[in-house]
Amino acid sequence: MKVLISDKLSEAGIEKLTHANGIQVDVKTGLSPSELKEIIGEYDGIIIRSATHLSEDVLEAARNLKVIGRAGIGLDNVDIPAATRKGIVVMNTPQGNNIAAAEHTISMMLAMARKIPQATASLKAGKWEKNRFMGVQVYHKILGIIGIGNIGGIVADRALGLKMRVIAYDPFISEEKAKEMGVELVSHLDDLFSRADFITVHTPLIKETRNLINKDAFEKMKDGVMIINCARGGIINERDLYDAIVSGKVAGAALDVFEVEPAKDNPLFDLDQVIVTPHLGASTREAQRNVASAIADQVIAFLLNRTIQNAVNVPAVSPEVMERIGPYLDLAENLGGFLAQVCTFRIEEVDIEFHGEMFEKDTEPIVLATLKGLLAPVMGDDVNFVNAKVMAQQRRIKVRETKVEDTGDYTTLIVLRIKGQDREESIWGTLFGKKEPRIVRYNDFIIEAIPQGEIILVENYDRPGVIGNIGMTLGKKGINIATMQFGRDKMGGQAISLLHLDAPLNDEIINELLTLPNLISVKPIRL
Ligand code: NAD
Ligand code: MLT
Repeated sequence: MKVLISDKLSEAGIEKLTHANGIQVDVKTGLSPSELKEIIGEYDGIIIRSATHLSEDVLEAARNLKVIGRAGIGLDNVDIPAATRKGIVVMNTPQGNNIAAAEHTISMMLAMARKIPQATASLKAGKWEKNRFMGVQVYHKILGIIGIGNIGGIVADRALGLKMRVIAYDPFISEEKAKEMGVELVSHLDDLFSRADFITVHTPLIKETRNLINKDAFEKMKDGVMIINCARGGIINERDLYDAIVSGKVAGAALDVFEVEPAKDNPLFDLDQVIVTPHLGASTREAQRNVASAIADQVIAFLLNRTIQNAVNVPAVSPEVMERIGPYLDLAENLGGFLAQVCTFRIEEVDIEFHGEMFEKDTEPIVLATLKGLLAPVMGDDVNFVNAKVMAQQRRIKVRETKVEDTGDYTTLIVLRIKGQDREESIWGTLFGKKEPRIVRYNDFIIEAIPQGEIILVENYDRPGVIGNIGMTLGKKGINIATMQFGRDKMGGQAISLLHLDAPLNDEIINELLTLPNLISVKPIRL
């Protein structure tokens, strides 16, 4: 497996990748989009920070790419929907640099409040301007946090330590959670704007948060408010911020991120009230070691062991969860693959029934594996774990998942039903022991077969001689039958046989089998 590191990454991560058996790593930084496009096709994985832009156009050329690893948090430089459509897992390291970013936010707030960068520049220029740099205290001031997730939460904790009062706006956080953090949650952003002495943003940059703080917002704020942005450029409208500072509404701004980066000739740099750093939020030795090491582990684990951590476009499957559900992923994929290869109608609905306590949680990956199995016989390698759901939606296939406590005769059971054009097929599967997959029922036939390998499904009338005839025909063609299982609805009624073969059947042999007496159909299945 080949992995490209296309942005500067701490040695801790490079070393891990270099020493991973089965991984070959190339470090090529500073590539232009066209240079990246030219080489990306060779790679199974790519590790980036914020400089590499993975647009739809670049991803189009990434024919082998399975995983994008972002050493850091923000993914605004990756076209995630395009990656998902192509079946590429996108993962980041949400915990690695959050303390660094929160500490930077607090540092920027205090530096702004006490005008430390301006005073440093003045003193170094040979001046002693004690009266010029009058600051404000943060003690008992109100800090308004917009977005109280990982970093916002740590900022709140540190600000409470400074004896600030913290209010927050975040529509996705419960009041209970906010209370636990010692924070007052406000239900309208305007409330936060009108009450806060300092305002800091910690949301992702998305459609809803672009220009979240603009001219209208500044008008609602207290006179002399101070603003901090250590999240993403674009959440605060820079033009409106400039005007609000010049008008005296905003007393100071501390910015680590900008609408255009690298930021050069930004008009805000001309204002004395503005202090800036060049996107340094995550720039601590600890954070860079953390994110590099974490993303290396995650990419290696995904490419070599299928475990998924911190993915943003597919459910997580940690090593512990994989240990537990791994065999069910294979079972589900093969149940899907089985039905897809025997079904003769267009699938409109998929029902997946999970029986047993084991399925109380973590069933989402099993659903994806089932859909992958169902779609792969038609779509081949274009469908995978990541895009299976999108592909099913695009084909207007309704997917329903139900959980049932009762397991009947089995400890666990997965029942897969597909429906379409007034027809239905179903298959039941379980594990014997902890790892041995078995089909235990196909439509109305009770059977016990391993869902793996070259199989033929024979439907026949339950009459003497049928199996003997099949064996003789295959024997004459030199095809060995490895195992055979039978099921029938009633004596003399209809029956099925599942035969595992040592070689696949061609059309000629299938047609010959179909001339045998009492045979209804012969369907080859490869799992
Ligand atoms: P997170 O996902 O843990 O938290 C984001 C929070 O924003 C969530 O709680 C979410 O509910 C909330 N949110 C989303 N939309 C919102 C809206 N419209 N209004 C209010 N709240 C909203 O993310 P995080 O790890 O805390 O990262 C926050 C930001 O910091 C991201 O933009 C990330 O890219 C950036 N970041 C910057 C640096 C840096 O170097 N300056 C370092 C790390 C992270
Ligand atoms: C992040 O999103 O992790 C930060 O902005 C830091 C970085 O870009 O590396």
